[in-house]
Amino acid sequence: MLHVPVLLEESLDFLLHDLSGTYLDLTFGRGSHSQELLNRLSPLGRLHAVDRDLEAVSFAKENIADPRFSIYHSNYSEVNSLFYKQRFDGILLDLGTCSTHLDNPFRGFSFQSDGPLDMRMDMSSGFSAAEWLNSAPEKEISNILYEYGDEKSSRKIAKAIVKFRSIKPLQSTIELTKIIETVLKRTGKTHPATKSFQAIRIHVNNELYHLKIALSKLQNVLKVGGVVVIISFHSLEDRIVKNFFKPEIEEPPKDIPINTSVKETYRCIKKKIKPSPNEIKMNPRSRSAIMRVFLKL
Ligand SMILES: C[S@@+](CC[C@H](N)C(=O)[O-])C[C@H]1O[C@@H](n2cnc3c(N)ncnc32)[C@H](O)[C@@H]1O
Repeated sequence: MLHVPVLLEESLDFLLHDLSGTYLDLTFGRGSHSQELLNRLSPLGRLHAVDRDLEAVSFAKENIADPRFSIYHSNYSEVNSLFYKQRFDGILLDLGTCSTHLDNPFRGFSFQSDGPLDMRMDMSSGFSAAEWLNSAPEKEISNILYEYGDEKSSRKIAKAIVKFRSIKPLQSTIELTKIIETVLKRTGKTHPATKSFQAIRIHVNNELYHLKIALSKLQNVLKVGGVVVIISFHSLEDRIVKNFFKPEIEEPPKDIPINTSVKETYRCIKKKIKPSPNEIKMNPRSRSAIMRVFLKL
């Protein structure tokens, strides 16, 4: 199944203010936002796109033959060095994973189908979920499950993982799902492994770190009057976005290396846009989406 874009109309309506401008899609995925952007741009417009996932980059190369379009395999936290000579009219960040990640058992993102426990968006670097779960201290595993998954049974799950790996290394998604099912019984609609899988994915991909770094660098590649549109899918991401652009922040957070006050750099033009009930009905994955829009002053 292809990835169904979230808040497509709303995001592009805010992003595109000059149809002959140059735009940047930092999360290409399967390119639904990029394709629609290209449909709307004039022959003079340009679109650069980035994804850390090589499959997304191959998809772009195979499916978009448009001289106005270029694709790059990179992490969006590298935006500064990748585009050090460019200034964009608008930048889109549609965060998180693609449904194509979840649909492919070989990527290890889904607890619903068996596959190697990988979960890396960029399989050319970093460590897999299995490598981490087989080597991390129990306390570190339980902290990650709690912090990134809000998993109340984090300690029990971490303990069960450590017990399992003392007999044999964890290798597959189904092994992990079964371990979690021994600790947590299914209640209601949500599968007991949902939160743990989310937490491990966020950790393995160091998602929140890369988001903070990317936000701190956007100002260097945006034109004055340029627009940033960010779509988040969980509160941890949205909190980082909201806090980063908070107008009252005079001092940037200590872990973000920026040297100009955010207050002087951006104005929030749309605080919190959510998908319509109709979009949520057509695409339930969109229900947690929150979009925020900022203008560079
Ligand atoms: C929600 S999908 C984007 C979907 C896309 N807007 C579309 O219409 O198909 C998020 C994409 O961002 C990519 N991604 C996530 N974190 C990234 C990062 N730090 N750097 C670059 N790409 C990243 C993922 O690999 C994934 O393909």
